[in-house]
Amino acid sequence: MLQHYLHGLELNKQQLLTLLSLAQKIKAHPQDFNQALAGKSVVTLFEKPSLRTRLSFDIGINKLGGHAVYLDQQNGGMGSRESVKDFALNISTWADCIVARVNEHVTLKDLAEYANVPVVNSLCDLYHPCQALADFLTLQEVHGDVSELKLAYFGEGNNVTHSLMLLAATLGTDFVAVCPKGHSPDAQIVKQAELIASANGASIQVSDRIEAAVGANAVYTDTWVSMGDNTPLKVVKDKYMPYQVNQELVDLTGASSVLHCQPAHREIEITSQVMDGPASKIIQQAENRMHAQNALLVTLLNPNFV
Ligand code: CP
Ligand code: NVA
Repeated sequence: MLQHYLHGLELNKQQLLTLLSLAQKIKAHPQDFNQALAGKSVVTLFEKPSLRTRLSFDIGINKLGGHAVYLDQQNGGMGSRESVKDFALNISTWADCIVARVNEHVTLKDLAEYANVPVVNSLCDLYHPCQALADFLTLQEVHGDVSELKLAYFGEGNNVTHSLMLLAATLGTDFVAVCPKGHSPDAQIVKQAELIASANGASIQVSDRIEAAVGANAVYTDTWVSMGDNTPLKVVKDKYMPYQVNQELVDLTGASSVLHCQPAHREIEITSQVMDGPASKIIQQAENRMHAQNALLVTLLNPNFV
């Protein structure tokens, strides 16, 4: 039984496929699920800004008949007004689940250790596993069987890259991260993904050469400077420009779909021509945040409903 969702590896291939299929059912027949979280309250806790995550959880929980409570850091930050442990102990007495966007992964581990309810990672420095669920739901809708795909990620090796890579490895998708030197994904997470991928007949590759992405079915990018990183964009811009997702790059790979988790910086990591073009699945991907997360919440909080 799924207890927490902190890094994405809590679900094996079969469980992930089951969750994605539930997400498709919820998306197709929302009325069948409008009581799935009846009587359940979910606290969504944010140490960082958000548009998609905040709204997709809040509106999604509402559509399942549940109640979402947004908690930012304005009324006393975790670990400053009181400890993470005390946050977890108190919230657990009222709520049925904690969804948390935190600066450091260790905060999620602490929340999970002390909370008596499931904890879901809605982004940290290392992972963005809810994003990856929506990404693979989108890839499945667009391309069908994701184990037949090659997915190419361009830009900074970051939290989004890590989660995408781990889910690709689990689902048997070939994955290549194409990043400038010094900005590759975390070496340990790459190693972990390689091991999982080899058991699932897939490959994980890291390269600084854009040619490594030739033959990809889908291209993905994210911001070059993540939240919490104070590096001015102009300092890194020249280094990253060869990795910009523009029409020429998409043509080079041969990919027929383009993803971006957003927020996007138009004409920086992606051009408007590509973002608004026919291959872009970026808005579908944003919509799918809600359906994928709703499947996750039903699986965590009311598994007998399905
Ligand atoms: N993709 C994503 O997590 O967007 P937000 O930061 O707006 O939540
Ligand atoms: N890598 C980005 C993702 C935003 C959804 C960040 O952490 O800011």
